[in-house]
Amino acid sequence: MRRALIAGNWKMNLDRGGAEALARALVEGTSEVNDRDILICPSFPLIPAVYAVVKGSNVWLGAQNMYFEKKGAFTGEVSADMLKSVGAEWVILGHSERRHIFKEDDELINKKVKSAIDQGLKPILCVGELLEERESGKTEDVVKRQVVEGLKDISVSDVLKVTIAYEPVWAIGTGKTATPEDADSIHSLIRSILKDMYSEEVSQKTRILYGGSVKPENIDSLMAKENIDGALVGGASLKAESFLRIIKFQ
Ligand code: PGA
Repeated sequence: MRRALIAGNWKMNLDRGGAEALARALVEGTSEVNDRDILICPSFPLIPAVYAVVKGSNVWLGAQNMYFEKKGAFTGEVSADMLKSVGAEWVILGHSERRHIFKEDDELINKKVKSAIDQGLKPILCVGELLEERESGKTEDVVKRQVVEGLKDISVSDVLKVTIAYEPVWAIGTGKTATPEDADSIHSLIRSILKDMYSEEVSQKTRILYGGSVKPENIDSLMAKENIDGALVGGASLKAESFLRIIKFQ
């Protein structure tokens, strides 16, 4: 049985006071929630302040990106060690905004996934197709390429540290959600790719999150699907009331 994970991707939102207040409300609202994992991913500069709030609680802390090198002349970049030193234990990698706005490719994302694992951060590898790719019937090819390339040269024991998030790009921030059936069938495809690359065990143990306009209104039907193990939530993770309702899916 895979334990559910509900992750909030705050993107480039909130200032220090807003981040602390939201984190405090989430810590209070989840003090009794012990049967699922809860994660929040603030912007880099807010991580220490949020860590001070969530430390010792049921809420995990992560970052939205990192660079694969350990240190050096990489202006504007942040290493896994730096993130760990301020309390982050997870990192979102290959988010579609990184792929499409910042032109990150599968090779770079693969280096980041490997570096995160090597340095003890838990990566969430995001995959998902663009609207034009979906409309031209390329969804399965795109998702397969992103999973295979993103996990290239990662061992069986290391891949068990990876969470995958399927986020169709056309559903992110648009109010359009994939139907639970559509999402479940892509999650099942991802499981079969993991089985071919690794084993039945890896395919069954790996958590696969859905992301893209997840809201209080659709979380229960998404989570009812066999292959959906959690959610990566953007907009609806920015308000305590809506994110707590998503965390407490039935
Ligand atoms: P959204 O974003 O929930 O606002 O659609 C999801 C994401 O990009 O992770």
